[in-house]
Amino acid sequence: MKSLQYLNKYFWKYKWRLAVGLVMIICSNLFGIYPPKIIRTAFDTVAEEISGAAAANPNAAPFLFEQSLRNLLESIPLSEKLFYFGVIVLILALLKGLFTFLMRQTIIVMSRLIEYDLKNEVYDQYQRLGAAFYKKQSTGDLMNRISEDVSRVRMYLGPGIMYTLNLAVLFTLVIATMVSVNLKLTLYVLLPLPILSLTIYYVSNIINRKSEAVQRQLSKLTTSAQETFSGIRILKAFAREGSASARFEASCNDYKSKSLELVKVNALFHPFMILLIGLSTLLTVYIGGMEAIAGNITIGNIAEFVIYVNMLTWPVAALGWVTSLVQRAAASQERINEFLLEKAEIGHETGVELQIEGKIEFKNVKFIYPESGVEALKDISFIVESGQSLAVLGRTGSGKSTIAQLINRLYDASDGEIIIDGHNIKDIKLKFLRSSIGYIPQDVFLFSDSIRSNISFGSNSVPEEKIQQVAKGAALLDDISEFPEGLETMLGERGITLSGGQKQRVSIARGIVNDPSILIFDDCLSAVDTATEEQILMELKEIMKNKTTIIVSHRVSSIKHADSIIVIDEGKIKESGNHSSLLAYDSLYSKLYHQQLLEEKTAT
Ligand SMILES: Nc1ncnc2c1ncn2[C@@H]1O[C@H](COP(=O)(O)OP(=O)(O)OP(=O)(O)O)[C@@H](O)[C@H]1O
Ligand SMILES: [Mg+2]
Repeated sequence: MKSLQYLNKYFWKYKWRLAVGLVMIICSNLFGIYPPKIIRTAFDTVAEEISGAAAANPNAAPFLFEQSLRNLLESIPLSEKLFYFGVIVLILALLKGLFTFLMRQTIIVMSRLIEYDLKNEVYDQYQRLGAAFYKKQSTGDLMNRISEDVSRVRMYLGPGIMYTLNLAVLFTLVIATMVSVNLKLTLYVLLPLPILSLTIYYVSNIINRKSEAVQRQLSKLTTSAQETFSGIRILKAFAREGSASARFEASCNDYKSKSLELVKVNALFHPFMILLIGLSTLLTVYIGGMEAIAGNITIGNIAEFVIYVNMLTWPVAALGWVTSLVQRAAASQERINEFLLEKAEIGHETGVELQIEGKIEFKNVKFIYPESGVEALKDISFIVESGQSLAVLGRTGSGKSTIAQLINRLYDASDGEIIIDGHNIKDIKLKFLRSSIGYIPQDVFLFSDSIRSNISFGSNSVPEEKIQQVAKGAALLDDISEFPEGLETMLGERGITLSGGQKQRVSIARGIVNDPSILIFDDCLSAVDTATEEQILMELKEIMKNKTTIIVSHRVSSIKHADSIIVIDEGKIKESGNHSSLLAYDSLYSKLYHQQLLEEKTAT
């Protein structure tokens, strides 16, 4: 239960709502306990008229206004009296209804507000946490925390709190009244209630377990269907529809049997509850009858008690339900806390606010991927002057992308220093660092949105000329003009699918649109042919002027114009120089160059 203490700050935030809610609960219960008293009076009045003698419970104190009510109705004939009793009960019920409405409006609304706050808090934390965190978590888990776990916590904040408060108030009021009428009868009729509460607690747990199993199976089902849909082209190409169907059917079957189990428990549960409630009523009538015969209570008291018992059963049943609900909420909150309390490994708030010019220096940088322990960079040192370009060439898996990610601080170097404009990048405020870097990643990700939005990426203030300019720079204009809606063409699931090369070029346009002072191209021309590559490089020349540029590639053609070139292998710099100096001797670079030249010739 300790985990739920985290939420106390929200109760504090909404303390006034909670306080008003409590007042509403008290009011609704006050109006709730009066109707049984009126009904008792009505019964007693009838009994009095029939027997001619006053039907009085010698022990029970009259309720507030009882005497004035009796006086008021004194001279009216019985049938009319009963009508007025009915009217009073109706008015009281309406008042109780009104306050119950207000009670839900305060407490349930409070829980929704807290749910909203908590979701935002969780989401903000998601945004703060770094790449290493995301490697450890599955997307499904992250989604679950912000949706399912938060809704379970809300069940505690809303219904949990409301029913508990309601039960406490109702119990105090009703039991005090019952005891004032007859202690013995009270004890007897309350007897089955703890059993009811315990049973419901156990059954709720079973139901929750089973319905979670159903939920889990359902999410498996959805995931499997979703994978089938997103991989439909592969599936069809390999003619594997049959096996996909079989897998789906097996999943469905599992889901069905789990659902049926749940239905069975539910079906047994309800009659059992009704039985226990019936038992209480039966006891009331039987023991009450004996007491009435002995002259300890009146007939009206029996009627009153039957209503009280019925009033108590649902809240008592709710107690069992609420207990299991709070346990679930605690487990969920624990999961949420687990990472709400996780420190972002890369700090956001502190650091100098620097207008970056773009001199980049690596000093003996080592990097080990924290998740896998792979030593991706062993000892990397280089300097790129502001406005210059550096090309990083190397075989696949040699550590090129890792260098790019370190400059961005998607990860922090394990050892050594990365210095930009004389500041260690850890001392530069993250927002300033990242917003001055245009990073074009190796694996392009585009959102299901228009091409324009994908290029301007969230900022509305990008002027039209700028979009046109970067689209031209990324050699996209021809492609765009062929789409029916131009820049407004939608991409992704509901829109068109771009070719690999087109995607890369949209990604390039996105990287350069904000005029960053540092540009990092991570192998982002791999999917375009050499002619287009040449064209893009020509177009980009203007854009890259005065900007520090890092070009990662394994194709010599894209980097030969760079001011300096480093060739890395297994996380170490093997060669450095520029195109002509590297070609001047028997370098790895010149080998690659001649090999690729040859490939190109044979291809054309
Ligand atoms: N997120 C990661 N977690 C763990 N290990 C990683 C991760 N990313 C890369 N690696 C490992 O680090 C090493 C360097 O990877 P990197 O992506 O930097 O290579 P690369 O030079 O960019 O290769 P490519 O040309 O294929 O893109 C590889 O051995 C790779 O397996
Ligand atoms: Mg790479």
